[in-house]
Amino acid sequence: MPMICLSDFEAYAKKHLPKTTWEFFAGGADECCTRDDNLLAYKRIRFRPRVLRDMSVIDTRTILLGTEISFPVGIAPTGFHQLACSDGEKSTARAAEAMNTCYITSTYSTCTVEEIAAAAPNGFRWFQLYIHRNRALSEGLVRRAEAAGFQGLVLTADLPYVGKRRDDIRNNFQLPPHMTVKNFEGVFEEESCSEYGLPPNSIDPSINWNDIYWLQSLTRLPIIVKGILTKEDADLAMRHGVQGIIVSNHGGRQLDGGPATIDSLIEIVDTVQDRVEVYLDGGIRTGSDVLKALALGAKCVFIGRPALWGLTYKVNEETWGLYMHSFSYAQTLGY
Ligand code: FNR
Repeated sequence: MPMICLSDFEAYAKKHLPKTTWEFFAGGADECCTRDDNLLAYKRIRFRPRVLRDMSVIDTRTILLGTEISFPVGIAPTGFHQLACSDGEKSTARAAEAMNTCYITSTYSTCTVEEIAAAAPNGFRWFQLYIHRNRALSEGLVRRAEAAGFQGLVLTADLPYVGKRRDDIRNNFQLPPHMTVKNFEGVFEEESCSEYGLPPNSIDPSINWNDIYWLQSLTRLPIIVKGILTKEDADLAMRHGVQGIIVSNHGGRQLDGGPATIDSLIEIVDTVQDRVEVYLDGGIRTGSDVLKALALGAKCVFIGRPALWGLTYKVNEETWGLYMHSFSYAQTLGY
């Protein structure tokens, strides 16, 4: 089957992955209204196309916190890449390096930060952090990521507790025995790990804005807060000295009933007024989705599930180009 668009990769992944893995990747919280609205919201937006603008030269490069990337689509943090491909996050890192884009590596990776860095030594990466009740563990991880050359710290702010993903509960979703949350290997008793490879309730639900100061005391990396959906929180993020905001609802996997990210973007961009960089993830599936997000003020977008479909297809350095061309957004980027 020729792979023309991301839906083709989605269909491939659905066909080839075990059902429990597919449902873990696809799942949203509760009734999945927010997950679905992330996609539908793009369909409600129409362009006001202008013509005769000399489209002979198209430059898709952009700069994220001082680092140039080839095009404004990065890889959002998602856990457990070995579920999609045996090389796991190492493959993702190599592909992102080959395409010169930003890969946000999840705390819940099936390779360590050091392994990921070694797999793609010249890649541009940020590290995504979940803060754990065991603060020493989180502190150690921040220091390891910085030492391994990660260039930004992304604090995920929308997961005080894990959303109720019905399929995972029905499937009693567990990591296969040969896979671990590799950054924490040896830290937890294996028998106690039930929730997504970790002991239940290991994430600290008390995290709040003051923890930004705590992170700033640990690292010199720029801090980007992921999971902002309102102008009030965008304002708080700026007051606490963060360098970037990712407008995100976790792909609809956390609070069901919240807004589609593209609908939140407008008030956030309006409030931020270029004082910090604003990015977006959630529901990006076509080049025109990318264009709509950029036109509404996002500096760059990130893809979550589509990168996992690509990994399932064993996208590597050679085929990643084909994969990214399925966005075909270069044609529409000259707005
Ligand atoms: C995620 N997401 C996520 N976010 C995060 O901050 N840390 C993580 O470990 C994960 N893990 C994760 C696993 C899976 C299977 C999915 C689908 C998502 C959320 C992710 O970063 C991003 O916000 C959404 O995936 C974006 O939506 P799309 O592109 O999947 O529609």
